[in-house]
Amino acid sequence: MKQDDLLRRLFLCDGGPHSLSSAMSARSGSGKTTLLSSLISQATKMEDFKEQRFVYCSLKHENPFPDAPVVTDRATLKKTLRKNRIVVFYPLNPEQYERDIDDIIEAVFDLAHVNEDTGFHLTIDDSNILKGFSNTGRPSGSVMKLAIAGRSKGVRGLFITHRLGNLPRIMNSNLSSLLLLSMNASDNEYAQKVFGLDFTDLISDLTAFRWSVVDLIEEKIHRFDPIAL
Ligand SMILES: Nc1ncnc2c1ncn2[C@@H]1O[C@H](COP(=O)(O)OP(=O)(O)OP(=O)(O)O)[C@@H](O)[C@H]1O
Ligand SMILES: [Mg+2]
Repeated sequence: MKQDDLLRRLFLCDGGPHSLSSAMSARSGSGKTTLLSSLISQATKMEDFKEQRFVYCSLKHENPFPDAPVVTDRATLKKTLRKNRIVVFYPLNPEQYERDIDDIIEAVFDLAHVNEDTGFHLTIDDSNILKGFSNTGRPSGSVMKLAIAGRSKGVRGLFITHRLGNLPRIMNSNLSSLLLLSMNASDNEYAQKVFGLDFTDLISDLTAFRWSVVDLIEEKIHRFDPIAL
């Protein structure tokens, strides 16, 4: 698949069949944050993404976008998104990560409602830290709204976790792609059970920052060499 097509499939909020939310799952230190920030930076250079905004939430307070402003509350996020294509959000209080993330999701839906021509992409990195992110877990209403109702509202979510099994099962049928890097071999069992896909060969290929996009709509696996840093 051509790079531009891939970026559109992964990030464009055009309401099409591929514009559901996505998940990125791979072990700790496998290059998730680095890959995601590189792909989003490339997307913002494309004409198709001229009207689109990206919000990147980092529970670990990492900013992989050197030129993006960092905000810590909803009001500043809304203001900052007017002039910036990418804005980074840090929740401040570990006791209430869930509340802060819900607040940001609602702010993004509000913005999408009043800016019909603008698409909003919202990444929640390390979302496995949030309550409800487990196979049988129930994430918050706002997280589920992002995963389920975003497409028709011009909003797309991307949930980054360490294991495929961290994704709440009720979310799985609402994802259009999976972004994968080095994974635990036992994740294959889960992929087979939940997505009906065999990742045995794929997992052994995903070494040394190699990555893959699984198109869950067409049930196709695309493999890629490591991005150059
Ligand atoms: N394509 C690559 N080539 C070489 N080094 C890379 C590549 N991608 C990531 N790295 C390096 O690997 C380390 C881990 O990367 P990164 O923080 O992106 O991983 P992660 O999966 O997000 O980790 P965590 O699970 O802790 O959030 C960093 O030092 C990064 O510079
Ligand atoms: Mg990371």
